[in-house]
Amino acid sequence: MRPSELRGILTYTSKFRDQIFVLSIDSEVIADSNFRNLILDISVLRSLSINIVVVHGASQQIRALGEQMRIQPSDADGMGVTDDATLSLALLASNRIAHEFLEAFSETDLRAAVTNAIVAHPTGILGGKDYLMTGRVERLDVGYLKSLLSMGVIPVLPPLGFDGEGRAYRVNSDGVALEVAQALRASKLMFIGTSNGVVHAGSLAAQFSILEAEDFIKKNRETTAGDVISKLEHGLQACRNGVHRAHIIDGRREEALLNEIFSSEGIGTMIYANEYEAIRKAKKRMSAPSCG
Ligand code: ARG
Repeated sequence: MRPSELRGILTYTSKFRDQIFVLSIDSEVIADSNFRNLILDISVLRSLSINIVVVHGASQQIRALGEQMRIQPSDADGMGVTDDATLSLALLASNRIAHEFLEAFSETDLRAAVTNAIVAHPTGILGGKDYLMTGRVERLDVGYLKSLLSMGVIPVLPPLGFDGEGRAYRVNSDGVALEVAQALRASKLMFIGTSNGVVHAGSLAAQFSILEAEDFIKKNRETTAGDVISKLEHGLQACRNGVHRAHIIDGRREEALLNEIFSSEGIGTMIYANEYEAIRKAKKRMSAPSCG
């Protein structure tokens, strides 16, 4: 990158300063060789005074631990039934992942804290099925998260919720990220997984308004990968509830996060809540390509 290219990010730096970005990072990305680069990208965001909250998944590590320990998990992604053995795997996997985040953040001189900010209760019995130790988010300790952010600390939220009796429940990370983004009035919710967004008829659907996203989901639910539809639905919900933009990007790609945030075209799929902003940006791009 040439130093003069830094000018191109100026439009964004003033807009994003002091905003909150919630990053939902999938387990596969944490296991990928690009993980430490992603952490470097996060440190660039922090250096620009963007507040970051990390929510992480654990499904890949739960499956891997299950294989090692010869335990068949009853569910890996926090949406199915979590039996006792699977909860133990989830606790082990989450603790290891939290440690990886703390190590990687220490390497980049970032302050981070693994939190118990998710208050959960059991999902209970749905359709005759007992979800056992799978939980639903009851509320978030917003004051706690805000005080960490005000001290320049990155809260790290594992896919676990806790009840008043000191019990842990398995929760789904994308669902948690949505709740966190809404509760903290985040300006961005970014799903950082293994899919680069919505591919439709062979090409990437780069952006959707709320109405377009609703329409797309209605028409293409059957033909689009389940995890992409789920991220799109969560992103849509966030944008309906005050989050400005939701993004789906592939965290295994070099500099994916920075490219999505600091270029007008991005690299993944974005849902935007604010039509006016998107139109204004598009006009600007025509007159000053480097400023997006
Ligand atoms: N950089 C801008 C933002 O973060 C626009 C990103 C556009 N991305 C896209 N996939 N169309 O808000």
